[in-house]
Amino acid sequence: MTQNSPAAQDSQAERNPHAVQVSAEQQASPSTQTSRSSRSPEEPDTLPPDIAVRARRLLVELVRPQLRGYALLVTLLAAFGLGNAIGPVLIAHALDSGIPGAIAGDSWALAAPLLAFVLVTAASGVFDFTSTRLTGTLAQRLMVTLRRRLFDHVQRLGIGYHERSTSGRLVARQTSDMENIQIFLSGSLQEMAIGLSTMTVIAVALAVMDWRLALVIFAGFVPLLWVSIASNRAQRRNQRRTRTAIARVIVHVVETLGGIRAIQSFRREEANELRLRQEDAAYRSATAASLRNVGWFAASTRWIGNLSMAAVLFAGGWLVIGDGLQVGVLTAFLLYVRRFYGPLDELVQAFTMYQSAQAALEKVTAVLDAEPEVVEPVRPVPLPAAPGPAGARPAAEGAGPTGCTAAGDDGTASASAGRTVSFAGVSFSYAGGEPVLRPFDLTIPAGETVALVGQTGAGKSTLVKLLTRFYDPSEGHIRIDGVDLRDLADAQLRRSVVMVTQESYLFGGTIGDNIRIGRPEATDAQVRAAAEAVGLAPFIARMPAGYETDVRKRGGRLSSGQRQLVSFARAFLADPDVLVLDEATAHLDIPSERQVQEALATVLEGRTAVIIAHRLSTVDIADRVLVMEHGEIVEDGAPTDLIAAGGRFASLHEAWEESRA
Ligand SMILES: Nc1ncnc2c1ncn2[C@@H]1O[C@H](COP(=O)(O)OP(=O)(O)OP(=O)(O)O)[C@@H](O)[C@H]1O
Ligand SMILES: [Mg+2]
Repeated sequence: MTQNSPAAQDSQAERNPHAVQVSAEQQASPSTQTSRSSRSPEEPDTLPPDIAVRARRLLVELVRPQLRGYALLVTLLAAFGLGNAIGPVLIAHALDSGIPGAIAGDSWALAAPLLAFVLVTAASGVFDFTSTRLTGTLAQRLMVTLRRRLFDHVQRLGIGYHERSTSGRLVARQTSDMENIQIFLSGSLQEMAIGLSTMTVIAVALAVMDWRLALVIFAGFVPLLWVSIASNRAQRRNQRRTRTAIARVIVHVVETLGGIRAIQSFRREEANELRLRQEDAAYRSATAASLRNVGWFAASTRWIGNLSMAAVLFAGGWLVIGDGLQVGVLTAFLLYVRRFYGPLDELVQAFTMYQSAQAALEKVTAVLDAEPEVVEPVRPVPLPAAPGPAGARPAAEGAGPTGCTAAGDDGTASASAGRTVSFAGVSFSYAGGEPVLRPFDLTIPAGETVALVGQTGAGKSTLVKLLTRFYDPSEGHIRIDGVDLRDLADAQLRRSVVMVTQESYLFGGTIGDNIRIGRPEATDAQVRAAAEAVGLAPFIARMPAGYETDVRKRGGRLSSGQRQLVSFARAFLADPDVLVLDEATAHLDIPSERQVQEALATVLEGRTAVIIAHRLSTVDIADRVLVMEHGEIVEDGAPTDLIAAGGRFASLHEAWEESRA
């Protein structure tokens, strides 16, 4: 899958060559940064206060299906910890009873504890191996589930979310954050569990052997606990900072690659390098703080461990002299102190990874918690049966349309009669901003071709983004044949309404695959017919492998006009009820545009269509023209009538005619 979030970034950068610079500047200035994050709660830099709780809930949810595996793992780890801890007891026994026994002639007295020691360590090895494998398997399963869940969710988050948040951040979630969680789950978690279980078992063994010496060791716990809590608190902060800093580095790299053309043509390389250096410095400083903390913690725990050792030796020596404590027990205690504090180093490392994984999981949780703004209905309403002359266009489920107009192998004209589109009391504003569309009503009868014209920023694209349900209207309803878009199943909506825009995104694969994207089951003949209808066929004929030619990354092998024609072929093949064209011919030269228009004349017959175009030649094929201004439809009528009336469209048309002359 090469076409995930960077893809969106790619096309975004192409559409707006300044996008990269703008966002770079926004991030550089702290004031805009704040205002930006306050506007978009999904920006993961501002995590909600209860995120730790929600991250934990997510973890529980992920672990639950594997509960049996985890129970087995805990048992294995406990057994391993026990095996680890029992060694010194056996050594102590060999020293205190085995050697005297052997001297007295009973060699078994020495051999038995040593044999037990060998067996116990062998069993420990088996537990170690099994638990390591099991840990790996469980971690892998959890990661696959989480990765899939995140990917699916990100794909389903509305266009609104993607327009607001940088795709680099989403890439960071999928890469570096996932990696951190993975490292913790498949390594550090096990070290942590082994360390903790070993320490617990040893603590019990110590208390049983000699409670006075045990108390001496336990006393070391008080400063240890204090150091741990202080370090934990600092480390949590540090890890959050590190996660954010590395995400920024990734954002910068992703944006640079996505906007590489703009960067090279505006010679932004140096400024970009400087920015990367700054991001790197921030990352370094965050990491340095974290490393300082680890170092400080490791040094203090080791020092506490050594002090404990000295204290045990001192108190133990005293007890041996005065109280007859056996030397073997003292030896066991000294061995235990090492084993007791030994795992601490690993525990510290593991704990750092834990903090890092926790911070990463919080960030992933924040993305998973973002609600898609456009949601599929639970109980979708089907569209009424298609009224097309063929009558065979399945309205729902499975199989694609039987006949494709331009691409139809039967050569008939339109298979669809289109559907009636109605806007009732619709108004819209982007995420809490100014109103972009003022409340309006509009009915487009089935089969009508409507041209939407008006100056830049008037709201034309916004209107069709509502019709394709990239956004839901702030107020009012949009219906297709009487069914609210919000009640339509996604699959039916996407089959019924298709939009072609000026950014034609091509995915890796063959040109044939790219045309087939909206209708994977189309036959080769249908694909060819679609390509012929839009005038793409002659170009394909000249390519090395024809329809099997790989288009390379983002269709790099094709000119932008050719890419545009691929988009058209896709839309024609998809055979929708309602076709929306937003500046779809902007990249075409005049002959190609004319060819597409001729094709359109056939394709649009009987189909409902909304066409946005600055080049008014498209209007020639429209039955009706809507003129938009500042989010309002200010003129509505047949082109000839509007020209005759001498309003805004008339002057637009006049200017257009003059420019052509
Ligand atoms: N994703 C967005 N978030 C916030 N505001 C937006 C967004 N997209 C568009 N706008 C704003 O909505 C208004 C209408 O934009 P729209 O893209 O609909 O214009 P348009 O008529 O299609 O213009 P053009 O002819 O230049 O394509 C503009 O003022 C624009 O700034
Ligand atoms: Mg537009």
